[in-house]
Amino acid sequence: MAGQKSNEMWGGRFAEGPDAIMRAINASIGFDRRLASQDIAGSLAHVDMLGATGIVDKADAKQIKAGLETVLREIQSGDFSFSEALEDIHMNVEARLRDLIGPAAGRLHTARSRNDQVATDFRLWVRDQLDGADAAITALMQALLGQAEKGVDWVMPGFTHLQSAQPVTWGHHMMAYVEMFSRDLGRIRDARRRMNESPLGAAALAGTSFPIDRDMTAKALGFDRPCANSLDAVSDRDFALEFLSVSSICAMHLSRLSEELVIWSTAQFRFVRLSDRFSTGSSIMPQKKNPDAAELIRAKIGRIMGANVALMIVMKGLALTYSKDMQEDKEPVFDAADNLFLALAAMTGMVNDMTAVPETLKAAAGAGFATATDLADWLVREKGLAFRDAHHVTGALVALAETKDCALHELTLSDMQSVNDEIDEGVYSVLSVENSVASRMSYGGTAPEQVRFQIKRWKEILEQ
Ligand code: ARG
Repeated sequence: MAGQKSNEMWGGRFAEGPDAIMRAINASIGFDRRLASQDIAGSLAHVDMLGATGIVDKADAKQIKAGLETVLREIQSGDFSFSEALEDIHMNVEARLRDLIGPAAGRLHTARSRNDQVATDFRLWVRDQLDGADAAITALMQALLGQAEKGVDWVMPGFTHLQSAQPVTWGHHMMAYVEMFSRDLGRIRDARRRMNESPLGAAALAGTSFPIDRDMTAKALGFDRPCANSLDAVSDRDFALEFLSVSSICAMHLSRLSEELVIWSTAQFRFVRLSDRFSTGSSIMPQKKNPDAAELIRAKIGRIMGANVALMIVMKGLALTYSKDMQEDKEPVFDAADNLFLALAAMTGMVNDMTAVPETLKAAAGAGFATATDLADWLVREKGLAFRDAHHVTGALVALAETKDCALHELTLSDMQSVNDEIDEGVYSVLSVENSVASRMSYGGTAPEQVRFQIKRWKEILEQ
């Protein structure tokens, strides 16, 4: 049938069917079949409303409903044959409904258009992804909390410019990511709240002359309310853009954590051991254990952010309301969602499985004169120096230690006094990495006591 006669859904004014190339560029069934269950949920809500308001008589509504349920079962069990000639999921479902129940199927599309239909389907689909991301990010936060608890007071180097800066704790470093992912979670919840309005009933663009009940369909589909402007309802895809934008930010966070795991798992660092379950070997070098999962997660931002840019550019400059350009909204979102979930699951598995090595962390923590700031602070606190002067004195002590090839705490008191004669024995108390981190008691600081407080706070929040 395809191509031989005009389209059975809209072919009334067409003498000829579409060219094969036209069909190929026009059809979306190859990908929008992923909206099948949302499409049928939308139709069920619509037909219930048509029956309840008397727009369609009750017997027809009942028959349509039963038919839609059969179509859904066929799709779910893989018995459904999708047709490119029928363009998209909406017309595939409706055509099958007609096969099953006959002419009554033609009443389903009363007071509706594919424009509000697809806007509804896609919102429902994106809403499911937001809910899935909510759960997946929560699981990752729990994995990070587990790591933080295990090494709440393990000292390690904190870096700026990837140079040793000041000692911090493993727990503190893990909790930094908990904060980051919690903001992703917040953005997801914000986006969900904003997008949860029903486009159904906007019809093609102007609303409808039928006495529909939009509150009823909105409620049936779990929306908070119907969209208040029919033109906007069929036009905008900002809800999908928000999903892509929060996904991009989340993927960026995942990418940074991945990069750290890649660095930390090298033979040079040995801060963490990744489990076999989340590593791969090399086909030529028998000793290799590669952090492939971390590398792939690090790269996912490319396609997720790419999807965000792609859809933004599709939508840019489109006059209201619907244009077929908007059919290009789905594939980037599908791909981004699939990859975000894969990345989140892989990261959660990797974090749960990995083992930090406290000895190596500690050995590295003191490297690079990491307690120099503690020394400068001591000069300010104990000897009344201005911070700028203390900074200068400490710099001279670091230079001295460098020429003697020793650590700060290995300088003798007379070495110290050769730089500043006010320095006394007390200084050694601040040069150990443990004392350094324990002293960082400011709110949000790296002292184990502060980190414990944050872990407790987050556990309580996540338990709710
Ligand atoms: N397959 C279409 C899409 O995804 C459905 C809407 C079609 N509407 C139209 N006016 N041609 O955008």
